Amino acid sequence: MRILILITGASGIIYAQRLLDNLDPKDCEVHVAYSKYARQIIEQELRGELRLKEGVIMHNPDDMNVPYVSGSNPFDAMVIIPCSMGTLGRIANGVSDNAVLRAADVMLKEKKKLILVPRETPFNLIHIKNMELLILAGATIIPANPSFYSLPQTVEQVADTVVARVLDHLGISHNLVRRWMNKPEEE
Ligand SMILES: Cc1cc2nc3c(=O)[nH]c(=O)nc-3n(C[C@H](O)[C@H](O)[C@H](O)COP(=O)(O)O)c2cc1C
Repeated sequence: MRILILITGASGIIYAQRLLDNLDPKDCEVHVAYSKYARQIIEQELRGELRLKEGVIMHNPDDMNVPYVSGSNPFDAMVIIPCSMGTLGRIANGVSDNAVLRAADVMLKEKKKLILVPRETPFNLIHIKNMELLILAGATIIPANPSFYSLPQTVEQVADTVVARVLDHLGISHNLVRRWMNKPEEE
C-alpha cells in the first residue's frame, strides 16, 4: 500500500504526528509532503521538527516528477492532515497547480481514497459548500473533532480519537482507542 500524507498550514499538527507515529514504513510506503504554510505551523505547535520514522519518503510539493501526479500511477490513499480551508477549497474547485493538489485531484478521478481532516471553527458557507463538493466527488471528510467517551488522559490520547478513525478508513489495524462497548480483553 502506498500512502501520501499532506500536512497543511492548519492548526493541529499533532494529528499528523500521531498518524505518522502509527504508520510503519515496513508495512506500507509512507510518503510525506508539506504545503507552503505547514512549516510555520509545525514550528509554532511542535517547537521543532516532526518525528519521521526511518523509511518515510519526503517530497517537494512543487516537484511534478513523482508517480502520484498521474492517473497512470496513483497511490492507494492520500490523507490531508490537518487540512486547511485553503487547501480544501483548492481541491474542491479543481485547482491543481502543484504536485500535491494534483495528487488529490488524481485520487478523486481514479476513485482512490482521499481523506481530509479539516480544522477550522466556525465554518462559513464556503467551507461547507466546498466540503459538500468533496463528498459528492468521493472524498472522505474526518473532521479534527476529538471524542471523549474513551476518557483520554493526555493531549496525544485526545488526538488519537481522530487518528484512529483515519486509520480505520485506511484499513490499517490499530488499538489506539478502545472501541465503544468493547471490553479491554477484546482490544
Ligand atoms: C498559527 C496559524 C494557525 C492557523 N490555523 C488554521 C486552521 O486551523 N485552519 C485553517 O484553515 N487555516 C489556518 N491558518 C491559515 C492557513 O495557514 C492559511 O490559510 C494558509 O494559506 C493555508 O495554506 P496551505 O493550505 O497551503 O497550508 C492558520 C495560520 C496560522 C499562522
